[in-house]
Amino acid sequence: MHSPMDIQPVIDYVSRGWQLGPVHGMEHWKRVERNGLLLATEDVNINVVRLFAYLHDHKRLSDGWDLEHGPRAAENMDNLRHTLLEGLTDEEFGMLRRACMEHTITERTGVPTIDACFDADRMDLPRVGYMPDPDRMASALGAAYARHGVVQEDCSISEEKLKIAKKELLLI
Ligand SMILES: [Fe+2]
Ligand SMILES: [Fe+2]
Repeated sequence: MHSPMDIQPVIDYVSRGWQLGPVHGMEHWKRVERNGLLLATEDVNINVVRLFAYLHDHKRLSDGWDLEHGPRAAENMDNLRHTLLEGLTDEEFGMLRRACMEHTITERTGVPTIDACFDADRMDLPRVGYMPDPDRMASALGAAYARHGVVQEDCSISEEKLKIAKKELLLI
């Protein structure tokens, strides 16, 4: 079991100097964190999922086509390893780095924490007009959320549908 980390310094870091708008900015990052917590089954590392939410898109250069922003975020993380991210174990850092590196190019990894990161991001697709596709989610829980329409068109969460999806996977 990992101990919870104070991620506020990371949130302050990514907020500073953010030039782009809300589509890939703080509003999106907060919802990715919220989604990640909804996807956090027992085998998911919450520190990694929460940090992914704030770090995965912060090296975007535009809101348009920019497939390299994941690798850029991952490489930048190496500079933070002994400062902002020093509280992470090597295993946590490795998962966070890989999740950021691959989030634009990999559908699923089979690593529960990384797959939860991917799905947390995909669950925020309604902000750009797409509903999450159950067949393209990385985790079983993410797929169930997509199938039941847990995230609504305005990116809010339907508590009722959330319960139905969790029940389906016998999580409640
Ligand atoms: Fe991204
Ligand atoms: Fe994103």
